[in-house]
Amino acid sequence: MQKIAVIGAGRVGETTAQILAQQELCREVALYDVRPDYPAGVALDAYQTAQHFDSDTVLTGSHDPRVIEGAEIVVVTAGLPRKPGMSRSDVLEANVRIIDEVTDHTLRHAPDAMIIVVSNPVDTLTYRVAQRTGWPRERVFGQAGVLDAARMASFIAMETGFSIRDITTLVLGGHGDTMVPVSRFCTINGVPISHFIPAERIAEINERTRKGGAEILGLRQNSSAYAAPGAAVVTMVDAICNDRRRLLPCVALLDGEYGERDIAMGVPCVLGKRGLESVVTLDLNAEEQADFQRSAGAVREDIERLREIK
Ligand code: 2OP
Repeated sequence: MQKIAVIGAGRVGETTAQILAQQELCREVALYDVRPDYPAGVALDAYQTAQHFDSDTVLTGSHDPRVIEGAEIVVVTAGLPRKPGMSRSDVLEANVRIIDEVTDHTLRHAPDAMIIVVSNPVDTLTYRVAQRTGWPRERVFGQAGVLDAARMASFIAMETGFSIRDITTLVLGGHGDTMVPVSRFCTINGVPISHFIPAERIAEINERTRKGGAEILGLRQNSSAYAAPGAAVVTMVDAICNDRRRLLPCVALLDGEYGERDIAMGVPCVLGKRGLESVVTLDLNAEEQADFQRSAGAVREDIERLREIK
């Protein structure tokens, strides 16, 4: 791939750009941010690590949106972060305005790109970008489940002592307190986690996963998580750039899958060179389906609020 744009040079944007460059997933990473000079400084600093990583990826940064010209993937991290005690929905109104502006820059300067939304509330903002661009869901989707599943994997590794390499997890639904860790599909090298972890501890791990972002914000106080979100975005980009056809939970526009339509939320998807190539429908049991629907209800409340924002 030639060029990937990262919108927003905050901590998540900066980390994403750094890892993209370290992994040489494209020739150029372009960082855009509304702050004058700041994105150029971030890009320069990151580029000055290139020799250490044997990477020929060039980083550029600017507050001129033309810096994203011709990008094939646009990763949107721009937006107000939440403060301790706030939910992701509390930043909806402020972030819709930012996302709309960023979408318009993308329509103008990178009209053939795929957009990966990371800004929160990510399900609702992915829906907003899809509406504003009119692009198909193959090209507009969001990052949430890859991060949430990685968090859950870390908790299972801490609980069991097994290598995190052998742990497979799945988290569906909206990226909020109603997200749905599906422990039935979580395994340690194919062995269901219920073989190793008692049910009440699994319930605690599920709850800790749901609150995973808030836990870090509460500990750090002045920053949301950014290392794990950045790495999660790069996992998605890598699947696309290398046409891996990985099965990853992504925020996708639903068209009847899981009984939902006219909504974007986390479901298992196939990611490859065409972007979000398909949504995979799992046979959820009654409890999982009820949890998924409750989560859809919470996302829909935010989507309803969008209609009031001019
Ligand atoms: C998180 O879960 C910020 O939503 C992001 O850490």
